[in-house]
Amino acid sequence: MSRWWQEGVVYQVYPRSFQDANGDGVGDLAGVLSRLDYLSEVLGVDAVWLSPFYPSPMADFGYDVADYCGVDPLFGDLADFDRLLAECHRRGLRLIVDLVANHTSDRHPWFADSRASRLSPRRDWYAWSDPAPDGGPPNNWQSVFGGSAWEWDEATGQCYLHSFLAEQPDLNWRNPAAREAVYGVMRFWLDRGVDGFRIDVADFLMKDPARRDDLPPESAERPRSRAHPDLHGVFREMRSLLDGYSPPRLAVGEIHEDDLGVWASYYGEGDELHLPFNFSLLHAAWGAGEVRRRVEAVEAALPAPAWPNWVLGNHDEPRLASRVGAGAARAAAMLLLTLRGTPTLYYGDELGLPQATIPPERQQDPFGRRVPGRGRDGCRTPMLWDRGPSAGFCPPGVEPWLPLGPGAEERGVEAQLADPRSLLNLYRALLALRRASPSLHRGDYRALAVAPEGCFAYRRRAAGSPGFVVALNFTSTAGKVEGIAGRVALSTGMDRQGETAAGRLRLGPGEGVVVEERGP
Ligand code: NOJ
Repeated sequence: MSRWWQEGVVYQVYPRSFQDANGDGVGDLAGVLSRLDYLSEVLGVDAVWLSPFYPSPMADFGYDVADYCGVDPLFGDLADFDRLLAECHRRGLRLIVDLVANHTSDRHPWFADSRASRLSPRRDWYAWSDPAPDGGPPNNWQSVFGGSAWEWDEATGQCYLHSFLAEQPDLNWRNPAAREAVYGVMRFWLDRGVDGFRIDVADFLMKDPARRDDLPPESAERPRSRAHPDLHGVFREMRSLLDGYSPPRLAVGEIHEDDLGVWASYYGEGDELHLPFNFSLLHAAWGAGEVRRRVEAVEAALPAPAWPNWVLGNHDEPRLASRVGAGAARAAAMLLLTLRGTPTLYYGDELGLPQATIPPERQQDPFGRRVPGRGRDGCRTPMLWDRGPSAGFCPPGVEPWLPLGPGAEERGVEAQLADPRSLLNLYRALLALRRASPSLHRGDYRALAVAPEGCFAYRRRAAGSPGFVVALNFTSTAGKVEGIAGRVALSTGMDRQGETAAGRLRLGPGEGVVVEERGP
């Protein structure tokens, strides 16, 4: 029997950028609440994943948490959170929150304690090491945001590990008390009723216990600064905590892992993560052959009961519409919502928001300030709602925290709802078709061998329900797929219906079509 997180579609809300209710130019929880009807009724998703809203100095926009059990005043307070959760549940929407478990803020009281003295009871909650004999960092581990992952602490004469910013010291997951403290945080939110967690950089939790140097990237060795096999024990503990709730709650893990065997191992034997995020298509060169190869590789890597998932955008990556091109964004939407597995849809991708160019004086992301060109502001611009000032993101006369992306007038929800063939209306139609069709939300997947070059076609079928064939043309020339008999249920242009002629489906340039097959 499948569960909500298998059949449903997850929508990621980046709270700073979704809706500003209190007029400070930054989105907030009351703003998200005011847009729930859009998510559940207009768009038709099943779950919301909310990026961090906890008290934070915002060195990494909330991924540096100073208090795991509160709400930053910028976003509201706990009462706002409880209201949001209740209103989600009233509409049948699930709410997943971010668990930033690898690191805290350097302002978190745990770190203040740990840093105060080598004898502090919480000293070992973080990863402290003596410097190398020459006074340099203890090893060669690099921060994802550039430079050494070690920061010298003058007061106690040791270095602490930070896999991200120096303001984000890594917790030591080998310390049982630190681990238990994070499990306490999980219980805090689960007891409030959240439906699960998206675990930030989940594969960073366990590192080489001997803290040996990383080997050069070309070496065949696994990294030592992350992804130690002891992770499996942590994931099993987390899973049993989540399974202890009724109904069991969901564990999604942020895992960037090129080795699909290692990635798939994080499902465990159905006793670790429900959904280790699958970023394979985020990094695909956008062509039929490459996309098909990646889909097949992911399907082949999955252990039998494991359920796939697909991601085409998030708050760390260049916008989908700019990566694949505005024309291809329609077929990309069809792919995301018809493959076998849970899709996670990033806010604004349903409008085709492009990657915005942010002028240097308005850049906000610390990563971009530190490593020019790596900034993530361009995919975090405000959600576009209507034709009013700031596209309805914040009240008139207020400047949004990031400028609006290009084409705000015609790209907003209001304008797109008025255009029957808009990208937003295509997403809505795809979501409705998926919801109404067991074959699409829980059926098997099989690639069709016969698709012509430049096209990718696959069949989705659940026992007792009509099957579907999805055919996507990645090229700018027309193509034909043979061996498909049925009725066009939806096309990316939203401009055709009827039966396929003599088992042959013609595809226009860049077109995608879902065909409902005849018979069960
Ligand atoms: C991954 C998050 O998605 C990203 O936004 C953040 O900067 C890092 N983890 C560090 O927490």
